[in-house]
Amino acid sequence: MKVFIGSDHAGFAVKGLVKELLEKRGFEVEDLGTYSAERVDYPDYAAKVARAVADNPGTWGVLICGTGIGMSIAANKIKGIRAAEVHDYYTAQMARAHNDANVLCFGERVVGPGVIESIIDAWCSTEFEGGRHAGRVAKIMALEE
Ligand code: RB5
Repeated sequence: MKVFIGSDHAGFAVKGLVKELLEKRGFEVEDLGTYSAERVDYPDYAAKVARAVADNPGTWGVLICGTGIGMSIAANKIKGIRAAEVHDYYTAQMARAHNDANVLCFGERVVGPGVIESIIDAWCSTEFEGGRHAGRVAKIMALEE
């Protein structure tokens, strides 16, 4: 399974760790930038990753900025995207289990490497539960129309 990753300058320092953690778990990772710590605008990278996920059903995205907030707001503007800003194992697990989120967002200024690893663990090991949650996710997607 393929995962597109992206960050702004405020998420750049941990993007390599995220790539490594995903590859260790068998995912194919495509890094859509940014490629240096030079200041950039997070909506540009949110759009690149969100469009790649929307255009390639069955893939996921990971977006990192300072807080995770701007990336999630921007990514959710793209049709087909359910971007979730998470903070820990539990919120990452619920984003997959209940919301069928397809883009994971978090903040480099909020979580450290240990929490990032637990977020990636939860995200990669949790299936969407479907059932009653499927109808609710369908209602979210209907808001795009
Ligand atoms: C950049 O300073 C910062 O605003 C950005 O990374 C992000 O946290 C926005 O939501």
